Amino acid sequence: MTDAPDLYTTIQNAAAYIRSRDARPWKVLLILGSGLGGLAEKTVNANRISYADIPGFARSTVAGHSGQFVIGDLFGVPVSIMQGRVHFYEGHPLWQIGLPVRVAKAMGIETLIVTNAAGGINRTFNVADLMMITDHISLAGLAGHNPLIGPNDERLGPRFPAVTGAYDAELQAFAIAAAREAAVDLKQGVYACVSGPMFETPAELRFLRGIGADAVGMSTAHEVVVARHADVRVLGFSGITNTARLSADEGEPPSHQEVMEAAPKIAPKLHAVIEGVLRRMNPPR
Ligand code: HPA
Repeated sequence: MTDAPDLYTTIQNAAAYIRSRDARPWKVLLILGSGLGGLAEKTVNANRISYADIPGFARSTVAGHSGQFVIGDLFGVPVSIMQGRVHFYEGHPLWQIGLPVRVAKAMGIETLIVTNAAGGINRTFNVADLMMITDHISLAGLAGHNPLIGPNDERLGPRFPAVTGAYDAELQAFAIAAAREAAVDLKQGVYACVSGPMFETPAELRFLRGIGADAVGMSTAHEVVVARHADVRVLGFSGITNTARLSADEGEPPSHQEVMEAAPKIAPKLHAVIEGVLRRMNPPR
């Protein structure tokens, strides 16, 4: 990063501000993607902190992303929820996209549950399906748009972190059990992260299918990479809001409206699975 103060100080300043508003330690960070923010309303003993008030934070500019932390208890577990996130395509530098995760780590989190809206590439997926992310392909990251590029501060994590098994096996098992209990048909697959903001061409989608992607979206991988750098456990879900048109004559092109219309159909499934996962985790306060 080029901005002063340095990243470590920026993180500490943001965490100090949050602590001044709500001194409760954090255990789990939940990032709710496009149209999926409603779960935050189930939080009890909630305190809301707008990103706009936190020093160093970027503001979300996308419809459907309200841009605040909701801190409280969800199904008996202390959580901090990011209702809305910032995206690379909004023009924010990648360190800024990773900042909330690093601040959450400074607040004490051990676990990140990350969600997004995604296009389904796997032909067996339908609109409104819920996919648990088993791994990701960060095309943005591989192409040099990586939140870890720059001087490495060892206080935040190692220079060369491994991202093998980035999505935690125990948390995935909790999700599978939770889905079974809630009668949710939980798909599983690999999430491809692209920069956006345009939706992909049919040729790009065929390429993504060819390299093993089951769903594609414009977020998540950056936050997951930062979380793993900070040794935070990760669980991820994609809500399939549209299905990929692998050739140009395959129906209507995708639109943001289509994404926002599908999200309410996914939210109840996502909420049921997250509830089951949190109940199984039950981290001590
Ligand atoms: N592509 C990229 N990002 C997305 C999509 C898509 O089809 N749907 C929702 N987010």
